[in-house]
Parts: sequence; C-alpha cells; structure tokens
Amino acid sequence: MSLTYDFYNPTTIHFGKGQVSSVVKHLSKDNKILLVYGGGSIKKNGVYDEISKVLEGFDWIEFSGVEANPTYETMNKAVEIVKSENVDFILAVGGGSVIDGCKYLAAASLYDGDGWDFLAGKAEVEKALPLGVVLTLPATGSESNMAAVLSKKETDEKRFFHSPFVFPKFAVLDSSYMNTLSDRQLANGLVDAFVHVCEQYLTTTNTSLVHDGYSETLLKGLVKLSCDWENRSDALWQENLMLLANQALNGFIGSGVAQDWATHFIGHELTAFYGLDHAQSLAVVQPQLLRVLSEDKEEKILQLGTNVFGKKGSVEEIIVELEKLYSSVGVSTNLNDYNIDDKVIENIIPALEAHGMIAMGENENITLDVSEKILKMTMK
Ligand code: NZQ
Ligand code: ZN
Repeated sequence: MSLTYDFYNPTTIHFGKGQVSSVVKHLSKDNKILLVYGGGSIKKNGVYDEISKVLEGFDWIEFSGVEANPTYETMNKAVEIVKSENVDFILAVGGGSVIDGCKYLAAASLYDGDGWDFLAGKAEVEKALPLGVVLTLPATGSESNMAAVLSKKETDEKRFFHSPFVFPKFAVLDSSYMNTLSDRQLANGLVDAFVHVCEQYLTTTNTSLVHDGYSETLLKGLVKLSCDWENRSDALWQENLMLLANQALNGFIGSGVAQDWATHFIGHELTAFYGLDHAQSLAVVQPQLLRVLSEDKEEKILQLGTNVFGKKGSVEEIIVELEKLYSSVGVSTNLNDYNIDDKVIENIIPALEAHGMIAMGENENITLDVSEKILKMTMK
C-alpha cells in the first residue's frame, strides 16, 4: 500500500561547534528576549557565559529553575514574566525539559484561558511566541519537533500536547555542550532516542524503502554508540548521539506509517507517580510490551533483529538483545530496581483510563487489561 502524508519541519538546525553565534541571525535589537534554563548546569559549564556574550547589545532577561519533567506550576510563573515584561522571543537553553516548558510558555502566554487546557485536550494552540533553542542534552528531539510534555504537581499528571505553532524557529546543536553530562544522562539520551525510533518502526510492515531504511540506520548508530560506550567522552561519540537523537524524533520516519506510542504513554504515568527518569520508564515498559504484543509485531521485531542487531533469532531472542542494550549502558529494565510501592497497578491503570489511553498501539488493542499485564511483567 502506498503511503500518504504531509511532512513539515520548519526548524533551522545550526549544527557544530561555535554555532551558538548563529542565534543572533534570528533576533532583532527590538526583541525583548526571555532566556529560560533549568537548575543551573549551564552556569557551571560555561554555556550561560557564552550565550550572555552572544546576546550582548540585545534586550534580554532570564527565568531559571525549570525542573527535569517541567511543571505547569513553574512555567506559569514564567508566563507572568512574559506578560509583565512584554517578552516577544523565548530562548530555551537546556534539554527536553526546558524546551518543552518553553513550548508551553510560548503558547500559554498568548492564551486567555488556563494553559493546562492544551495538555488536557480541551483547547488547541492557535498562536505562540517565537521560540529558539540551544540544546545541551540530546535525547528527546524536542529541539526540532512540535511536541511538549508537562507535569502538573497538584494532580500527579504528566501529559502532552502537539502544535505546529510551537516548532522552534531554530535549534543550536553544539555537541561540545555535552561534556558535562553524567553517564546517567548520556544513557538516558541513547535509550530515549532508541525507543523513539522503535515507536515509529516496530509496528506493521510498510512499502517505503526510505522510512525503514532510515530508522534502521538510526538504530544501528545507537547500537554502535552503546558498543562504544567506553568512548562516550569523545567528541565524535557525542556529536553522533546529538544527531541521532535529533533525527529520531523530528517527525520524518513516522510520517505516513503506523506508530505505537504505548511505551511512552505507560512510561509517562510511571514518571508521574514514581519519578523514574523518562528513559528509565521506557526501558522498563518496552521489552514487556513487545513480549505481550509479540504476535502483532513479529515481522518487525524479526526485521529489527536481522537488520539492526545482525541476529537471526526468535522474537524472544531479539527482545533479550534489546534488554541487553539498555543494561549495557546502565539502564535497568526491571521496575523493582526503581523507587516504587505496592500500588503500581492501582495508580497507573486508572491514570491511563483518565487520560484516554484505553486502546493504544497500531491495532488499538492495548486496552487497560493489556497494560495491566505489561505492568505486572515489568516487576520482575
Ligand atoms: O536543569 P539543568 O541544570 O539544565 O540540568 C539538567 C537536568 O537535571 C541536566 N542537563 C542538561 N544539560 C546538561 C545537564 N547537565 C550537565 N550538562 C549538560 N550539558 O540533565 C537533567 C535532565 O534534563 P532533561 O531536560 O529533563 O532531560 P531530557 O532531555 O531527557 O528531557 C526529558 C523530558 O522531555 C520529555 C520527557 O517526558 C521529560 O519530561 N520528552 C519530550 C519529548 C518531546 N518534546 O518530543 C519526547 C520525549 O519522549 C519525552 O517524553
Ligand atoms: Zn521519549
């Protein structure tokens, strides 16, 4: 069957060392810029100083303290600043959390109602302030996509919205900023990117030679980096992770093909309740989801084995390869290794139901019962 799709990605990528100087190409001296960052890593590693130099002569103020898994509550404080200071350009400096927080900020600042409406599916974004990104942690692809994931502390919820209005205008991808990332953050980036490709690939077969071919190139690249883990401080290793993670979720490989984001949706609930890092939640859920859905996904899992792991084997053997990949970079696939309690099913299943996640997957057959089965298997 032929594919039909629209692919749109307007973000200019400035890739390579020193590219932060390109930020000014997108700004005017009339702009009132809000520089937004997280808990202060950019102050320690010199990125803040570099950006301050680039912004000399421009009119800018700053907002900091965006948390990992950014909250609605914190970003609403930034909305107040945007409004009171007449900010008209947002510059996000950080990883997926800062970027996603800023996408919310860009949209909520021009919205009359409660910005959570976008996350709750009660309103569509109709306009947003322009947003630019300086990426410091490759993982999510948020720097050049239209998705944002926000958490609400009050209700322990983690939800997402999409809008073409929040595509960043540009993203600076300078991998020298990755020098100060911990092993945990590098591993998380690798695993998140791997699962992003899988969510757009491990579904049904398709007729495009480009989509699967490109997905497999990205997956093979990530496997290569995992095998070369001891060289993770090398510039070339880091540069490759930056590009792989970006391409994994800039929208192309998913256009027109079946997708299954159930691993992410179940994972988001685990993060909301138990604070697992995003990638940890994925490493826990994905292998068990593949086991439960092994009949539906058999052909693609075997293709993953042959074309990515270079292994002809049973579905189970390929899933074990996946688990080994995540463990090899130090990310556990066992939910019992994280800080959980005995209420996992009690908490997560109603949350999935409340968020409408009752028929997930390419065949819409990941019902609440199936999610429960998957979750039980994650507690090994
Ligand atoms: O807060 P700061 O000081 O910036 O520290 C961060 C944070 O503690 C630190 N960090 C970032 N760059 C650093 C650095 N530390 C040292 N050196 C650097 N160069 O790393 C920690 C984690 O950062 P975070 O932004 O939370 O990580 P990530 O990029 O993995 O983002 C995760 C968030 O993105 C969402 C996740 O759900 C999660 O909320 N996702 C967004 C997606 C999207 N928009 O398309 C898709 C993903 O599937 C994902 O759901
Ligand atoms: Zn992800």
